[in-house]
Amino acid sequence: MRGVESLRSLGLLLAQHPREFSARVAGYADLGLQRLFGDPPTYETVRWQSALGDAEVHLGGVAEILDEPALKETEESTRRLLADIRHEDTFVPHWAADSVLARCCYLACRLIEPEVVVETGVAYGASSAFILRALEVNGRGTLHSVDLPPLRRDYQRYWGIAVPEDLRDRWNLYRGTSADVLPQILEKTRTVDLFVHDSLHTRRNMRREFDTIWPFLRRGGVLLADDVERNRAFGELRQKGPALWRVVEDRETAPLQGRAAPVVFGVAVK
Ligand SMILES: C[S@@+](CC[C@H](N)C(=O)[O-])C[C@H]1O[C@@H](n2cnc3c(N)ncnc32)[C@H](O)[C@@H]1O
Repeated sequence: MRGVESLRSLGLLLAQHPREFSARVAGYADLGLQRLFGDPPTYETVRWQSALGDAEVHLGGVAEILDEPALKETEESTRRLLADIRHEDTFVPHWAADSVLARCCYLACRLIEPEVVVETGVAYGASSAFILRALEVNGRGTLHSVDLPPLRRDYQRYWGIAVPEDLRDRWNLYRGTSADVLPQILEKTRTVDLFVHDSLHTRRNMRREFDTIWPFLRRGGVLLADDVERNRAFGELRQKGPALWRVVEDRETAPLQGRAAPVVFGVAVK
């Protein structure tokens, strides 16, 4: 059923958004090639607790932030929302950011108090909700999110559904590929304090996003990237000489949805 639905959605996309259609097909091809011929890296990894120690040294105290009621409320409301829509015909259910990366997004925003946050990959908007809640607590900052909307006929019902109405003032959601939209955002903002990659996890796409963002990321700015174990792009970022580069590998204890899952994501500080 889902295959038929995807084919129908692809047909509609071809008719209404031909550029998105070709990007989607190219993305599938890239993913397929990576699965067949990719040469996944073996990174030295650290546990979440150890990464928190690094964050403390480079960015400041973390314990109080992780205890903030706003973080707990966001976790609870996101968990409730994802449970409520679980039985509906939505996007790929495991697409929402895992609970550890979501906390890390909140933590990074509270630590560096960014003016400009850019993220790629929205779907339900779980990571967007954590970022926007932290910006609200900070009382400043804007989130620019880029997403090629998921291939569902009724995607608009679920697109960014995790972001509450009262947090949307600080949110600019752009439709399109990161290849097309990131340069347009950077032309306006000229600088980025925090970047979060959670779109298409192919080497080509991740490398392009990192290469595009890095010159605009301010010194001390933070780059977070989900699922970095899938290809070598995050390892290649070391050639740019980040002040801190870590791959976090752990297991969730309090998942936002379903069962606790393994977690791998990258953290770099410029
Ligand atoms: C893993 S989901 C994002 C999950 C989100 N961060 C959250 O926490 O709920 C990946 C999203 O990236 C989108 N996407 C795929 N290719 C893309 C591209 N080239 N540029 C931008 N978004 C893309 C997918 O359609 C999907 O909506």
